[in-house]
Amino acid sequence: MKVVYFLVAILALTSSLVSAYDPSPLQDFCVAAKEKDGVFVNGKFCKDPKLVKAEDFFRHVEPGKTDNPVGSNVTQVFVDQLPGLNTLGIALARIDFAPKGLNAPHTHPRGTEILIVLEGTLYVGFVTSNQDGNRLFTKVLNKGDVFVFPIGLIHFQLNVGYGNAVAIAGLSSQNQELSLLQMLCLKLIRLFLLRFSPKLSRWTRL
Ligand SMILES: *[C@@H]1O[C@H](CO)[C@@H](O)[C@H](O)[C@H]1NC(C)=O
Repeated sequence: MKVVYFLVAILALTSSLVSAYDPSPLQDFCVAAKEKDGVFVNGKFCKDPKLVKAEDFFRHVEPGKTDNPVGSNVTQVFVDQLPGLNTLGIALARIDFAPKGLNAPHTHPRGTEILIVLEGTLYVGFVTSNQDGNRLFTKVLNKGDVFVFPIGLIHFQLNVGYGNAVAIAGLSSQNQELSLLQMLCLKLIRLFLLRFSPKLSRWTRL
């Protein structure tokens, strides 16, 4: 738990550096196309609407394997996995956790995240920007509980139950990438922790 606090505190320094909303679409849909000869709108090229089919709006998701050092697995349903949600400003992720599995502190600069726990018990939290003194809000969530992580703020989820846990996250952006600066900070923190506290490596692999 202390490691989580530590990471949250340091990552707070990089929070809210990049924050923007996805713009509203100007057409019914703009299914992301791989081809480069489409019409560029905002994000990906659009597939010719005449060639769009139901499959473009469909995706099947299986549980992610959690037998890795962090004990968690985020299965993304972003625009790269579901072309039909291009320009719609929304995305989804399924997060599987082994016991003690951690979805390490991170932000989605463009997206708010709303999470529902389908199974297990999660300790979740986010830290506010320094305008608000970097306050940490945390809560233990059980099956059926819903929690929201406001746009751009650093947040995490840790499985504190005895069994596995599963949660579904809805995101208000089709792009959920971390900023380069945050990636760099996460890597530095990881190196630091691996160097000074090898026993904690389970919690810090990114
Ligand atoms: C997450 O789960 C998928 C599907 O089981 C698997 O292919 C992938 O390697 C897993 N990722 C990690 C980091 O364990």
